[in-house]
Amino acid sequence: MRLDSIAVTAPHLIKRLEHFRNFTMAHPRLVEARDELADAIDGAAPGSLVLVLGPTGVGKTTLRLKVENLLMQQMAPAMAADPGRLPFVSVEVVPPDTGQFRWRDYFSRLLAAMNEPLIDFKTMRGTGYTQARSTLPSIVGGRELGYAVEQALLHRHPPVVFVDEAQHLARIASGRRLSDQLDVIKSIANRTETVHVLLGTYELLAFRNLSAQLSRRSMDLHFQRYRAESAEDRQVFCSILLTFQKQLPFAEAKTDLMATWEFLYERSVGCVGILKEWLMRACVRAIKHGAAALSLEHLKKTALSISQCEKVLAESREGETRLNDNEDSRLRLRTLLGIDQHSCGASTHRNSGSVRSTQNRNSRKPGQRAPRRDLIEGTTQVYA
Ligand SMILES: Nc1ncnc2c1ncn2[C@@H]1O[C@H](COP(=O)(O)OP(=O)(O)O)[C@@H](O)[C@H]1O
Ligand SMILES: [Mg+2]
Repeated sequence: MRLDSIAVTAPHLIKRLEHFRNFTMAHPRLVEARDELADAIDGAAPGSLVLVLGPTGVGKTTLRLKVENLLMQQMAPAMAADPGRLPFVSVEVVPPDTGQFRWRDYFSRLLAAMNEPLIDFKTMRGTGYTQARSTLPSIVGGRELGYAVEQALLHRHPPVVFVDEAQHLARIASGRRLSDQLDVIKSIANRTETVHVLLGTYELLAFRNLSAQLSRRSMDLHFQRYRAESAEDRQVFCSILLTFQKQLPFAEAKTDLMATWEFLYERSVGCVGILKEWLMRACVRAIKHGAAALSLEHLKKTALSISQCEKVLAESREGETRLNDNEDSRLRLRTLLGIDQHSCGASTHRNSGSVRSTQNRNSRKPGQRAPRRDLIEGTTQVYA
């Protein structure tokens, strides 16, 4: 969002607006997701995959940045000892112009993220690279680049590779198999012993249960929106509004977001990122019009359309249903195994608090940590 026009009309507000834009609220679901993802990365075997699924605008990229900060701190001593070491590598999968994902682009971006100039790769080519040395499936275009990626990862040794907007990996020509796409990621993860974290919308669900090998080495993390059906979620959503309200760039505290909370919920679908971007647009509009506070009018003019919200909601509901179905499958499995009634140690009964279900999640107090995820095979987040 460009703030140039405001810089001219209301230069004194630019700083405050920048402050609001940069303000990140540590709301309960973000904090919980951050802790769970950090735990998952710590606990994952090298070469594993972690899938972070959630609706668009829920805050997945924000979550990634938070975890990257944590990794930066944790890895500081290792990097001081070995300046070539990277604390993580992040790459965003860009929606392909052609409509189809291209590995060549992906690898180039990954190399750029590692600051590996392609010139090195060319040099490497000259020094005896052969196709035979690449372990990547032959369907992959740019296998040489893929090999360069593997070498760079082995050399820079980051523990984690974040692949943001990973749902675009599924944009493949008809006739090609989705499992082949995932095999490439798996192969790189395995060879380089890095944990690959794939963040994306619920389209990523298509990658689940693709192969037996994947099931053993992957887990998922569901970053949910706040749902109006839950009284607790509504309460948290309202407290998020109050927090954002305090950060608004206006001199006087005249804005009352709570008065329009239903509308704010309606057009954000309970996704904090969508809400934040909307408030930012509304602030810019209010300031441009010389207003001293946000009005309903500013909000209406800058809201997502009903059809956009319907789309986000439809995708969210489908994703939520499918992920919650997973809970039911797990209970079915446990019943078949005859262990549903005879759990030992931590209880695994649906209402006991250790099974991750919407029901349990909603019964927690805002800010209260979720029970930690168990990384042992066979728990809810390991694919069965
Ligand atoms: N907790 C938060 N506090 C403040 N701003 C947020 C928060 N979560 C997301 N945002 C903002 O909302 C926008 C969308 O969030 P993002 O993390 O990109 O969502 P996603 O990756 O899930 O689509 C970004 O501009 C981001 O800075
Ligand atoms: Mg994102």
